[in-house]
Amino acid sequence: MRKGILSLTTAAAAMTLGLAACGGGDGGTTTATQDTAAPAEGKAATGKVGVILPDSKSSARWETADRKYLEEAFKAAGVAYDIQNAQGDKNQFQTIADQMITNGATVLMIVNLDSGTGKAVLDKAKSQGVATIDYDRLTLNGGASYYVSFDNTKVGVLQGEGLVKCLTEKKAAKPIVAELNGSATDNNATLFKNGYDSVLKPKYDSKEYVKGPDQSVPDWDNAQAGTIFEQMLTEQPKIAGVLAANDGLGNAAITVLRKNSLNGKVPVTGQDATVQGLQNILAGDQCMTVYKAIKKEADAAAKLAIALAKGEKPAATASVKDTESGKDVPAILLDPQPIFIDNVKDVVADGFVTKDELCTGEFAAKCTEAGIQ
Ligand code: BGC
Repeated sequence: MRKGILSLTTAAAAMTLGLAACGGGDGGTTTATQDTAAPAEGKAATGKVGVILPDSKSSARWETADRKYLEEAFKAAGVAYDIQNAQGDKNQFQTIADQMITNGATVLMIVNLDSGTGKAVLDKAKSQGVATIDYDRLTLNGGASYYVSFDNTKVGVLQGEGLVKCLTEKKAAKPIVAELNGSATDNNATLFKNGYDSVLKPKYDSKEYVKGPDQSVPDWDNAQAGTIFEQMLTEQPKIAGVLAANDGLGNAAITVLRKNSLNGKVPVTGQDATVQGLQNILAGDQCMTVYKAIKKEADAAAKLAIALAKGEKPAATASVKDTESGKDVPAILLDPQPIFIDNVKDVVADGFVTKDELCTGEFAAKCTEAGIQ
């Protein structure tokens, strides 16, 4: 049966190649109208897309944004899909992938929990003729057909520059900077760190800043981040700035800073423009976050997946080097944006968070002050 799907898919791919290569201009999803030039058999080959999200705790984004936008895109295209969340469990991740393949997925899109287990899933999919997409996180040595994400080194650069901006505004002299990095098993965390260290290291080297504690948070676990930061602050009570790799880790640090009446005095960075992160910014406790327009990421990935499900061979716009295999992976990389208190309103205007969810209770007045309509 699998073989049948495979040969049909390959035939359709050959027939629709020219069509697929010119897609991609409008940022929307591939629709049935684009398919009309393909013969009827091409339509019959339309497959099913399986998506595995990593967890729902390391960041609010996976359930509140990624799932929502992917679902909308698949529904609009009328393509069969199944989106599941592994809830941080690597065995579960594998089980979900097996089930999806058994149930006829012809495209598998994953956000790996680490490269090793991600690779096992990708290998299995490929051996069954299932097309693969690494979504947001690159699986090192995984050999996925495509990778869709943001420019993650740039995310880190924006975080480093953001922290520098906030420390400068506070006129901090020789600030001790703590780094609370993402999971050591997430290639993105490596890229974020490369980015922010490219900004901070020269400042450490020139003695303008002092390098403080620097630690990764296993699995981006927010609770562990709190414990880790508590220890950092106990050992180094003069920490004057915190490079936290996302809003969840940032909030963990802010909670500890609050207990020590240091919130608002010590700038903290973040990422993901979560409601909590944006509220921390409005409260003056968080220096900045990085907004990644996840709708664009989900749309780009869904568009690829839909084309693959129709047996097409979609074109990528960029490529990234897999640092483990040394190979280039066809990629689509989007542009992240830094958010400070004065442009929190842009995130609302973009529809990523609503005024209703952001401007609750004590934040109502702060929202008005920040020009949020
Ligand atoms: C994503 C971030 C997210 C983090 C934790 C990273 O791979 O790029 O957006 O905050 O994982 O889930």
